[in-house]
Amino acid sequence: MARRRKIRSSISIPITLGAITVLLSLALLVGWSFLLGQKIARSAEIAGDVWLLVLGALSFVLIIVVLVLFVISLARGIIEVRKQDTFIDSVTHELKSPLASLQLCLETLGRQGLEDDAREKLRHMMLQDVDRLRAFIDDVLEANRLSYARPGMLNLSDVPLSELAEECAEAVRSRHELEPDEIRVYVDPELLVTTDRAALEIVVNNLIDNAAKYSERPARVQITARRESNNRVLIEVSDAGIGIEQKDLKRVFHRFYRVEDQEVRQRRGTGLGLFVVWALVKQLGGDVQALSKGRGQGTTMRVELPMAHAVSG
Ligand SMILES: Nc1ncnc2c1ncn2[C@@H]1O[C@H](COP(=O)(O)OP(=O)(O)OP(=O)(O)O)[C@@H](O)[C@H]1O
Ligand SMILES: [Mg+2]
Repeated sequence: MARRRKIRSSISIPITLGAITVLLSLALLVGWSFLLGQKIARSAEIAGDVWLLVLGALSFVLIIVVLVLFVISLARGIIEVRKQDTFIDSVTHELKSPLASLQLCLETLGRQGLEDDAREKLRHMMLQDVDRLRAFIDDVLEANRLSYARPGMLNLSDVPLSELAEECAEAVRSRHELEPDEIRVYVDPELLVTTDRAALEIVVNNLIDNAAKYSERPARVQITARRESNNRVLIEVSDAGIGIEQKDLKRVFHRFYRVEDQEVRQRRGTGLGLFVVWALVKQLGGDVQALSKGRGQGTTMRVELPMAHAVSG
């Protein structure tokens, strides 16, 4: 909290200073033009030098524009640093907590006379921690790779959507320890999409993971997909969870963005998942949209993709 307050004041000081400078320059420009204008009107001698007044005014306007641009870019820079700051906090937490849990499990495993089922339980916990670490590292690397990615780097194949959705659902069930019917897949087994399988898997995985993570138990997650008339396919992942307010529906796709809400903050996350989803869907030639009627009203993530991705570059 203290850090957030400090960051907020570090943004407001340069913005206030910049705004004061712009206002002073504007006042100076207006006053100076007014006085000079009066003098020119009275004295025929300097009337010939009107171009000097115009040149001065133009230089002033230019200075003000540069100042405004400078303040905007400064504020953007500070906001970016603020996001990186939140990211480092999340990364540290995401790395530290499974590592601490792994250490504890290993120490317990090292004890003499441990029952077989206790040993099995520890092994299961360790596998979950490793899975969490792997998913997290994948997201960080993917987000970084996407910053440099160019279109045309896709590996296209015919992907059976129902099989892919089932695989992702199973991975999420195991990660969040859900019952089979907490995530239901309603996709025609015949539905094929020509796209990059690895990219689509990351997309669907992230969406199902969020749907499960931001729901109370028992979760009610549904995955549907259908072919649209315009040769596109519509994939929807819906949940009956905590929902998203109108003002956040677009922001959730920004890098490192997490909704400022107790219910969100008590769940682990870095705010990278949906940025990765958005960037990958764009690369696949599609669109993604978050729909929700608000807090506590559940969420539907809608992905629209071409049935066959156009091969480019
Ligand atoms: N199904 C959902 N229901 C409610 N809120 C959601 C849902 N999906 C995403 N959000 C909101 O959008 C934010 C961004 O989601 P995103 O997946 O990018 O990050 P995350 O889940 O916080 O972390 P991670 O990078 O581990 O996925 C979340 O923090 C949450 O506030
Ligand atoms: Mg997520």
